[in-house]
Amino acid sequence: MAEKESVQDTHNYYVDIPMNSEIFQLRGSNALEWGFKNRLSNIFHPATGRTVMLAIDHGYFLGPTAGLERVDLTIVPLLPHADTLMCTRGILRSTIPPTFTKGIVLRSSGGPSILKELSDEEIAVDVEDAIRLNVAAMAVQVFIGGEHETKSVHNMTRLVDVGNRYGIPVLGVTAVGKDMVRDAKYMRLATRICAELGAAYVKTYYVDEEFDTVTASCPVPIVIAGGKKLPELDALKMAGSAVQQGAAGVDMGRNIFQSEAPAAMIQAVRKVVHDNATPEEAYDVYQTLRNKSK
Ligand code: R5P
Repeated sequence: MAEKESVQDTHNYYVDIPMNSEIFQLRGSNALEWGFKNRLSNIFHPATGRTVMLAIDHGYFLGPTAGLERVDLTIVPLLPHADTLMCTRGILRSTIPPTFTKGIVLRSSGGPSILKELSDEEIAVDVEDAIRLNVAAMAVQVFIGGEHETKSVHNMTRLVDVGNRYGIPVLGVTAVGKDMVRDAKYMRLATRICAELGAAYVKTYYVDEEFDTVTASCPVPIVIAGGKKLPELDALKMAGSAVQQGAAGVDMGRNIFQSEAPAAMIQAVRKVVHDNATPEEAYDVYQTLRNKSK
């Protein structure tokens, strides 16, 4: 056991070095508490402030979507390349190894299947279960302009209230109804409403025109969904344009797990998101890795 006097002699107070008081890098997040910031840092890579979220929650209303029929075989091998996994608690408990220590964004709303009116969702998870699963965030669908708009907004604000109690951020997921125009005007409206009502970050879709006005007018980070499967180069172009116009990354599903070479594709997406690679450079990476894996 160390002697009392020798322990005291070793003290060094570094009086000439000011204490580091870094500003938290995610937009709109400075006022959040430590637990929130810690969870968000398990989603957004601290080195870049951006994220490659792998979205595999589609089954919550679509059932066994193409590419997700066997999550154990097709998704688990991709996990080392994801910053975060977005999934349901059913898939998490049944199929995702608990040794996965990056952030989990838990799908926390649901109810109607693809056979019904989708905006009629309810909160589908108790916050106690989210805590038990050690999630980094809870995700809720918000149907601005949808038939059940108020109900879905209320789902989000209720989750924000319980999330705030325990330091769990809420991801507001803007859901665009099939009859709605997917343009910047709509995305500005939907993302801003989510942020104003307490979402810590917001997922939306990329739009070709004025996407920078969507990110500029949303006071919290925005990530883009990938949407329907595109040719790989087009998906990389979309991700690249989004981050160059202010998105903090992607929450991408089908364009990764429905790719001909999902592991190559997620690594190419990382190049665009984290290394500011051009889509063409990232596509080269995709082709090289795809060819190696053949
Ligand atoms: C909808 O099913 C989910 O919220 C997905 O997580 C979201 O649409 C992102 O997946 P994708 O890139 O396939 O659009």
